[in-house]
Amino acid sequence: MKNWLSGWSLLLLGFYHSPVWAEDLGSTIFQQGIGRDGREVIASLPGQVSLQGATVACAGCHGQTGQGGKEGFVSAPAISWQALVLRINQRKANNNSGYDKSVLQQAISHGLAADGRPLDPIMPRFSLASDELDALVAYLQHLDQQASPKLAVALSILPEAGVSKLADALLDNLQTCSGLAPGTRLWPLQVLRYKNPADAISQLRERLKVGSVRFLLAPFVAGWEADYGELMEEYRLVTLLPFSRMDLTDQQPVFLALPGLQKQLRALIDVAVTRNIKQLHVLAAADDLSAASLIESVRPYAAKQHVELQTATPALNPPQKNPVWLIVSPLNLIAPQLKAQAVDPDSLALIPAPYFSPDLAATVSSWLIAYPYPPKSPANKNWQSPLARWSQAGCNILAKAAEQPDTAWWQDSRATAEFDSLIPKQAVVLAWPTR
Ligand code: HEC
Repeated sequence: MKNWLSGWSLLLLGFYHSPVWAEDLGSTIFQQGIGRDGREVIASLPGQVSLQGATVACAGCHGQTGQGGKEGFVSAPAISWQALVLRINQRKANNNSGYDKSVLQQAISHGLAADGRPLDPIMPRFSLASDELDALVAYLQHLDQQASPKLAVALSILPEAGVSKLADALLDNLQTCSGLAPGTRLWPLQVLRYKNPADAISQLRERLKVGSVRFLLAPFVAGWEADYGELMEEYRLVTLLPFSRMDLTDQQPVFLALPGLQKQLRALIDVAVTRNIKQLHVLAAADDLSAASLIESVRPYAAKQHVELQTATPALNPPQKNPVWLIVSPLNLIAPQLKAQAVDPDSLALIPAPYFSPDLAATVSSWLIAYPYPPKSPANKNWQSPLARWSQAGCNILAKAAEQPDTAWWQDSRATAEFDSLIPKQAVVLAWPTR
């Protein structure tokens, strides 16, 4: 209850981190046709003289709350952000990529809808500066929240544009969802982008305080798993389809996650069991802080499977012949150590795929690698990149959520069965080289 209350008081100050001034500017453009520094907004109707100020205020045609309006011959659609996003998803036939600032700019400056359709000439063509557009987007989002404060979104949080190709491509796909049938309704997705883990946590915290998030979709949690888990525990929110190296499952409800490092290690331990290997020599880089906690997190599982995880330094405890290594740090950090061990030519090493580097494979004669997702191989005829599957699952989630607004379908294994082929629950262990 407390969170809920503080959420709403925060809402009065601003929405989606838009600074208060931005929303004010958005409001004056929208309601009065007054832009930055008090100048009147200028627009033109095709083939006519330019108009400015109150005559071209958005509210005049689209309604004071952007709900859409009809006056005389003019019928203007709803343009709250949510309305734009939903409508655009329904138009998806034409390979558009959702509503964002540049799409809005196309509409209001050049009279083109997001699917490229020319808008009715009644809609004026505006010339607005970039910061005025930002302010307008913030204001359109603010209108949503006013109209329906309980309106929930799926929230994603990804690194800033340009930092991760994977995250950028994922977002692109999630906004397009071109794999779905045209007209499929999608649950609205809001995306935050962060500079670094500290920024991610603070943005996420501020946004969650505002409330009205139905679930977290595909958050990109690389290196801030523990903080993320803590925050989600506080807000009791479900995470669907996270991207993270470590499994998030221990802290909070997580569904449809690709197997993280712990699950990959467990799969390797399982393989040790089937090969009757009783002892694994754990190799971690000295300065790899996460390695120790990683190994502790799987130790109980190993014990249950009767596999001993030997972490004593080999100098104190010289390994027997043909030791089997379990590598829990990136291979490039471990390779010098492996070479120094004068590794037996017949030795075997087990490693999670994110830590493997093919160019260092020669350090050990044979490898077993645990993949979070099956890599390319002749056995997988319909091979798709993890990104493609991940995006497809994300779009299916948005569609499913729109179909079943009230139920937590993600807890129903029958409802999620269709995701099993997209997002594997278990890591896959394969020998290297994988052909
Ligand atoms: C003179 C009336 C009028 C004014 C003023 C006006 N609009 Fe429009 N607008 C329209 C009409 C009519 C349409 C529908 C055109 C169509 O669908 O062909 C439209 C369409 C749009 C669309 C496209 C919606 C979609 O489905 O893609 C956007 C976005 C939009 N207006 C934003 C604005 C904004 C922002 C302002 C103020 C800066 C504004 N409009 C001012 C009449 C107006």
